[in-house]
Amino acid sequence: MRIYKAKDKAEVSRKAANIISAQIILKPDSVLGLATGDSPIGTYEQLIDWYNKGDLDFSQITAVNLDEYQGLGPDDEQSYAYFMRKHLFDHVNIDPVNCFIEDGLAEEPQAECIRYTELIRGIGGIDLQLLGIGPNAHIGFNEPGEALEKDTHLVKLNESTIRANSRFFDSEDDVPKFAYTMGIKAIMQARCIVLVANGEAKADAMYKCVCGTISAEAPASFLQLHNNVFIVADEAALSKVETRIPIDKEVTI
Ligand code: GLP
Repeated sequence: MRIYKAKDKAEVSRKAANIISAQIILKPDSVLGLATGDSPIGTYEQLIDWYNKGDLDFSQITAVNLDEYQGLGPDDEQSYAYFMRKHLFDHVNIDPVNCFIEDGLAEEPQAECIRYTELIRGIGGIDLQLLGIGPNAHIGFNEPGEALEKDTHLVKLNESTIRANSRFFDSEDDVPKFAYTMGIKAIMQARCIVLVANGEAKADAMYKCVCGTISAEAPASFLQLHNNVFIVADEAALSKVETRIPIDKEVTI
């Protein structure tokens, strides 16, 4: 794990965008695994900025998103499909036919999970996976539990996740109770993983991710087993990690 300590959210975004840019420049036909939530928005803004300056070309990129709420279609403003168009795809020259996400309106959830798992396999897996982290250390929507599911699956969201994500909805009741998520296998098979985190609210989750026991009770802890992970986080998010691992600016553990 390479851990970068940023002074603030802007620096987190710039550093993460830097790593993603290098990936795109070195392999213009990369498969990028993308994430939603508040944390990656600044990273997408930075990538758009560099694209506008002519430094990045997304024309050969394939994007596969981590997760999607069940019951929301791509035109629903709360869907992750909508989020991705709003925050990235509509602003760069990525081909929409190469942008993939689970179908929140699929009539047969089981078939949808198989379709998405096969799709990821069919495109050769993920070159770089961008991740946020939930306050309970979930990644994608792989919630803490007794065991992690390896392939794309439908998840009943935890109360705490519904509460945390209700900030994007009018009320907690409006948050869908189920979501599709990429499984832990596709995430762990990504050739590179970049996890971004900001703020005090993520300090416990980051401690579990970096220093905790590897366990399905903290899905992000599995990243300790991956050999090419960048953790890019601000001082507040790393505050508990730093009680165990002093970080000047960056450290490899
Ligand atoms: C949701 C998403 C996760 C994301 C998490 C954290 O639960 N499914 O992929 O990492 O939110 O979001 P935020 O960055 O808004 O804190």
